[in-house]
Amino acid sequence: MDKVLILDFGSQYTQLIARKIRELGIYSEILPFDFSPSRIKKENPAAIVLSGGPQSVYKKDAPLLSPEIFKIGSPVLGICYGLQLMAHLLGGKVYPSQQKEYGLARLKVLDRRGLLAGIKDDTQVWMSHGDRVEKPPPGFIVSGKTANSSAAVMEWRERRLFGVQFHPEVIHTKQGKKILSNFLYSQTGLKAEWKMDFFIERKTEEIRRQVGRKKVICGLSGGVDSLVTALIVHRAIKDHLFCFFVDNGLLRRGHYPDLMKRFRNQLALNVIGVDASQLFLERLKGITSPEKKRKIIGELFIRIFKKEAEKIGRVDFLAQGTICPDVIESHPVNGPSSQIKSHHNVGGLPSSLNFKLIEPLRELFKDEVRSLAEQLRLGKDLISQHPFPGPGLAVRIVGEVTSERIDLLREADDILVEEIKRAGLYEKLWQAFAVLLPVKSVGVMGDRRTYQSVVVVRLVRSADGMTADWFPARPKLLASISNRIVNEVDGVNRVVYDITTKPPGTIEWE
Ligand code: XMP
Repeated sequence: MDKVLILDFGSQYTQLIARKIRELGIYSEILPFDFSPSRIKKENPAAIVLSGGPQSVYKKDAPLLSPEIFKIGSPVLGICYGLQLMAHLLGGKVYPSQQKEYGLARLKVLDRRGLLAGIKDDTQVWMSHGDRVEKPPPGFIVSGKTANSSAAVMEWRERRLFGVQFHPEVIHTKQGKKILSNFLYSQTGLKAEWKMDFFIERKTEEIRRQVGRKKVICGLSGGVDSLVTALIVHRAIKDHLFCFFVDNGLLRRGHYPDLMKRFRNQLALNVIGVDASQLFLERLKGITSPEKKRKIIGELFIRIFKKEAEKIGRVDFLAQGTICPDVIESHPVNGPSSQIKSHHNVGGLPSSLNFKLIEPLRELFKDEVRSLAEQLRLGKDLISQHPFPGPGLAVRIVGEVTSERIDLLREADDILVEEIKRAGLYEKLWQAFAVLLPVKSVGVMGDRRTYQSVVVVRLVRSADGMTADWFPARPKLLASISNRIVNEVDGVNRVVYDITTKPPGTIEWE
C-alpha cells in the first residue's frame, strides 16, 4: 500500500496534513524532520510532504534538511516553511521578513497544468508565515501568487517537486483538498487504498503484540475517546483490560450512574466504578488557577488509577484516549509557540508513573474517532455526544470550584442542552455548554433587587476542535435559554452569550 511520509518541522497543523491525506485514501506517517535521507529512502515513501513550522530558514537553529532528500526520487510537496526550505536548499531566494502574513488571502492561478489543475481563480487560501519565497530555484515555475506572496505556489513538474506558501490542510483554504489530491493522484500517481476500517484492525493487532498476556488499565471519562480506546484494547486483549470510571464530582448531571450501566451491560467492559467526588472537591478547595486545577485533577486521577490498579496485581500499561488536538495543544513541537493548555489526558501525568502508555487514537481527530465508534457499534447518542473535557465542569467554573457552584452549573448546563436538543441543533454543533463566572451582577426580580451570578452560554461549531466559530443562534433560542436559566436556576440573574472564535479564544474558558 502506498505510504506518504510527512516530515514535521513543528507546525501545529502537521497532524492535519496526515488526516487530510488519510481522508484522500492514502496511508501516511509523520516523522521528525531530522530523519536522515538514507533512512527515509528505506521507508520507500510514495511521496514526501515537508510540513510548515514556526522558524525562519535563516535562524541559527532552524530545522534544516539535507538536499539529498530531493534526490531519492519521491515526489515532494513543501508546505509553508517546507516550501521556503525547499526554495532555500535548491538555490532559490527566500526573503526574510519579520512581518507576519496571517489569515485569509486570495490565490491568483497562473498555471493550471500541475498542482493547481481545476483550481478556481481568486480562490481563498489561508496563510500563516513570516518569510516568503522571492525567487523560486532554477527549474521551478511559479503557478500561483497572492497579493503578498509573489511565489505562493511553485512547481517543477518533471522532477515532481512542489511547494505552497499557504496551508492546503486547513479548511479555510477552500480548495485545499483538491490541491492535495492533485499532488497525490495526478502528479504522483498514488492509489487510494487506505480506509479507516483498517485502523481498528491495525491497532488491535499492534496492541495484541505489544501487550501479550499483561494487564492494561484504562480510565473512562464518559466521552467517546476513552470509550473507543477501551473498546479497541478490549478487542485486542479481552479481560486483561481493566477499566475504571471515576466519579470526580465534575461530570454532568446523571452521567455517572447512566454510563456505568451501559459500560457494563451493553458494552461488556470490565469496569470498576470509583466514587471520588469528595476527594476532588477537597483538593480543589481554594484553587482558582486554571492550570493548577487541570494539574490537580489530572494527578489525582492517575493516583486513583494507581491505587485501584494495585488491587488487581501487576499492571504494565495504561490506555488513554488522547487524540490529536490534545497532543498538539499540549506539546507544540520545538516551536516558539507556548503551551496552550495542559490537557487532562496529557498534562496530568506525573513523570514517576511506571505504566507504559497505549494511545491508539493519538493520530486521529474527533470525527475520525466518531467514525471508528460507528464501526464499533457504539450507540448513536454516545457517538454524537459533544466532547467533554477531562477536568469536567471544573474548567467551566471560573474561580473556585465548590459543590454549590457545581450544582448551579449542572442545572444551567442541563437546561441549555435540553433547549439545544429541542431546537434540533445538538448534532449540528461541536459543543454547547454553560460557564459559570466568578462575577455577580445586579438585577431585579419581581420587585426585589438581586445580586447574583452570571452564566455564559457557549455554542460553537468546529470541524476538529482546533479552530472554532461561535454559532449565530436565533434570538428566539437565546431568549428561551436565558429565560429558563434565570428563572429556574437559583442564584443566577444574568446570562450572556459568548461570541468569540478560536483562535483567538479557546473553546473552554479555562
Ligand atoms: P480548547 O478549550 O483547548 O478545547 O479550545 C479544544 C477541545 O478539547 C476539549 N478539551 C479537553 N479534552 N481533556 C480532554 O479530553 C482536556 O483536558 C480538555 N480540555 C479541553 C474541549 O472541550 C474542546 O472540544
